Amino acid sequence: MSVPADTSLHGLWSKRTAFMFAAVGSAVGLGNIWKFPYMTGESGGGAFVLIYLLCVIFIGLPVMMAEITLGQRGRHSPVQTMRRLATEDGNSQGWQIIGWMGMLAGVMILSFYVVIAGWTVAYLIDSVRGVFDGFDAAAASAHWEALVGSPQRLILWHTVMTVLTAWVIMRGVNRGIEHATTILMPSLFALLLLLVGYAALYGEFLQGLRYLFVFDFSQINPDVTLKAMGQAFFSLSVGMGAIMVYGAYLPRKFSIPEAATVVVSADMMVALLMGVALFPIVFASGFEPSADPGLIFQALVLAFDQMPGGWLIGTLFFALTMIAAWTSAISLLEPIVSWMVDSRNMRRCSATALCAAIVWVAGLGTVFSFNIASGPEWQLYGKNFFHWMDYLASNIMLPVGGILISLYAGWMVRREVMQAQINIDHTTVFYGWLWLIRVVVPLSIFLVLLRGLGIL
Ligand code: TRP
Repeated sequence: MSVPADTSLHGLWSKRTAFMFAAVGSAVGLGNIWKFPYMTGESGGGAFVLIYLLCVIFIGLPVMMAEITLGQRGRHSPVQTMRRLATEDGNSQGWQIIGWMGMLAGVMILSFYVVIAGWTVAYLIDSVRGVFDGFDAAAASAHWEALVGSPQRLILWHTVMTVLTAWVIMRGVNRGIEHATTILMPSLFALLLLLVGYAALYGEFLQGLRYLFVFDFSQINPDVTLKAMGQAFFSLSVGMGAIMVYGAYLPRKFSIPEAATVVVSADMMVALLMGVALFPIVFASGFEPSADPGLIFQALVLAFDQMPGGWLIGTLFFALTMIAAWTSAISLLEPIVSWMVDSRNMRRCSATALCAAIVWVAGLGTVFSFNIASGPEWQLYGKNFFHWMDYLASNIMLPVGGILISLYAGWMVRREVMQAQINIDHTTVFYGWLWLIRVVVPLSIFLVLLRGLGIL
């Protein structure tokens, strides 16, 4: 199906802020609130944070600009966008691999994303009911173990999240996604500041800051570097076409660099604020920062119980986290749904239902990773289903997607075409970006991948 060059089959954002909110909504999610702290814990703190920040700025930001630009030019789902651009630019149709791999990565990420998002719903409801009253550290851990130990409860909540995600996607881009994100972001920000305030007053604030920001070089190794880069891709939602699809709905004349910078800064701020709020609380409550995916749930419940007004703050926190996860899940599903609509001629409703069913089934893998299939006999090289999905998608597929996107944008499109589309006023800035995207980005991703995988 073809549409005139400057619109999209699925509609356009009604205004600039709608794109910003949707892109920030995609970027800010469990990656910042749940994954960043526990990955930091797993990798031992400062060094991980430093490499993560470097990757966000020097890899994530330029790739995001490239991804939005390609999407805006192609105006379709990632697969169709790449097909169109490859045809127009006279390149091989093989570049569609960006879209195909992206859809696969999206489903793989969703297979755990909806389950973890389900935890936030469970915690939200328990918080409303006052279940956490009078909790100590042992009770907080026991509560988490009880939740993840029960396949039934996990399935219930992951079903709820899958349905909620599908529901917004069915309503379509403008009505669904725009509305969901416009109120959330400012509230989340305000709440995080409140949490940071609490951590400063009552937590081990300096110890927390030191853990996050002081590093010694000996902590840096190829594995930590690979994980930090994967975290940067994951957190920014780049490398799989999610941002490309949102770019496809972006009207011309907006400054793409400006948009990307706002999205990246907001994302980075939320992750850092979360870290700054959480680690002082973790240290004060006697937990260890660790590789435990339940870290934030256990530590925060305790903190909420002890702080004045904690019931309300806790409830709001879980509600906002749930919504943040929701707006991200939407962007993970949109590339594949829009592909089915674009090229299979499916109705948006049926496409969404089909994708939701696939995601739901895949989600069972993660559900069981925490209970019946958590034992060593279910692991392959020490990783269970959940760990494998996360590792393959975040640490390998997203970076490979990033290499391909940057190579395409940097080398395969005529420079003038790219320059006109990306809308950078200053020539020097454009050449700076071009240099990053042509050489620095693909080369550094490549090296980090090879070293991290032990090939080099
Ligand atoms: N960035 C989101 C988060 O931090 C997750 C996410 C949404 C994502 N869309 C994506 C990750 C696309 C990778 C690719 O929670």
